[in-house]
Amino acid sequence: MKPKISVIGAGNVGASLAQFLVLKELGDVYLFDVVDGVPEGKALDIAEGNPHWGVDSEVRGFTTIDETAYKNMENSDVIIVTAGLARKPGMSRDDLLEKNVQIISSVARNVKKYSPNSNIVIVSNPADTMAYAFQKVSGISPSKIIGLGGSLDSSRFRTFLSMELGVSVEDINAFVIGGHGDDMVPFIRYSSVSGIPISNLLSKEKIDEIVKRTRFGGGEIVNYLKTGSAYYAPGASITAMVESIIRDKKRVIPCAAYIDEKLSKHYDAKGLFIGVPIKIGKHCVEEIYKIDFTAEERELWMKTVKSVSENASKVDQFLAKGN
Ligand code: NAI
Ligand code: 2OP
Repeated sequence: MKPKISVIGAGNVGASLAQFLVLKELGDVYLFDVVDGVPEGKALDIAEGNPHWGVDSEVRGFTTIDETAYKNMENSDVIIVTAGLARKPGMSRDDLLEKNVQIISSVARNVKKYSPNSNIVIVSNPADTMAYAFQKVSGISPSKIIGLGGSLDSSRFRTFLSMELGVSVEDINAFVIGGHGDDMVPFIRYSSVSGIPISNLLSKEKIDEIVKRTRFGGGEIVNYLKTGSAYYAPGASITAMVESIIRDKKRVIPCAAYIDEKLSKHYDAKGLFIGVPIKIGKHCVEEIYKIDFTAEERELWMKTVKSVSENASKVDQFLAKGN
C-alpha cells in the first residue's frame, strides 16, 4: 500500500506541495480545504498531469465545510497543515496569530478525532506557535509534530551564499535555527562550502548582509507578490521534511520541535516549539541535536526564545478562554 499524505489547506503552499509530493511519488495525496470545490478542483488538475510524469499517485480533494469530510484523512502517514491566512505587505508573521490559532485549533480537533497516530508538519504561521497550539489542542505526542521554519530559512541562506560565491548550492552547508521570525538565527560558525568556513571566503560585512537578507527573506517575497507570501521554496522545504519521514531517510534538518525539560537545560526554552537541528525519520523527531553557543550566539538565541515564548503565552490565553 502506498503511503497516504494529507494536506490541510489547498492554497498556494498546499497546492504547490501536493504537486511536489506527486512528482517525487511519495504517496497518495489527499487535499482538504474549507472553500467549496477548490480542493477537488486542484486535486483533479494535479492528477491530470500525472501521465506526463509517469506517476500513479492518487490525488483527491475534499471540501471541509462539513467537517465530517475530515474522515477521509484517517490513517494518514503524514498530515501537513497549511490552512490559514498568509501575510500581505506590512504584516509580520505574528500578525496572523489570532486568526490562525482558531483555524489550527479546529484542524487539531479533527486530526485528533480521525487520524491521531499520524506524523504532523505544521506550516501555518507563526509556525512555531501554531505547532505549540496544535499540540495543546490535539494532545498528540510532541515528538510526532514538527514545524516549518529552519528548512526554508536554511534553504534561503544557502541560496544567497551560493549567489554571492558563485558555487553550487549543493556544496553549501548552512543552517538557521530559532523561531521562524525576524530574529531567527543563521548559524555562521557552522556554515561552510565543502567544509571551508564561510568566514574564510567572505568579509564580515558581506556575511552580515546575507544574514539580514535571510532573516527578511519571507518579507522580500511578500513585497514582490503584494497579495500573499512565498510558496515554491516553502513547498520544496516541506517536501524534504515529508520525504525524510516517508522514506525514513534520517536527514538532519532544522525544524520547530518540542523542547522538553531535559533539553531545556541546554536550550532554555522549556515547553516551546522552536527551530533546532533534528533527525527526521519514520517516527518524525528521532533526535534533537544540541549546539554549543558562544556568548554572542546565546544572546541571539535567547532573543528568539523570548519572541516565541511571548507568542506561546498568547496561545495559552486564547485557549484558556475556551476557544
Ligand atoms: P493561501 O491563502 O494561499 O492558502 C491558505 C488556504 O487555507 C486557503 O485555501 C484557505 O481556504 C484555507 N483555509 C483557511 N481556513 C481553513 C480551514 N479552517 N480549514 C481548511 N482550510 C482552510 O496561503 P498560503 O500561501 O498557502 O499560506 C498558508 C499558510 O502557511 C499561511 O499561514 C502562511 O503564512 C504559512 N506559511 C508558512 C511558512 C513557513 O515557513 N512556516 C512558509 C509559507 C507559508
Ligand atoms: C516565509 O518565510 C511566509 O513564513 C513564510 O516566506
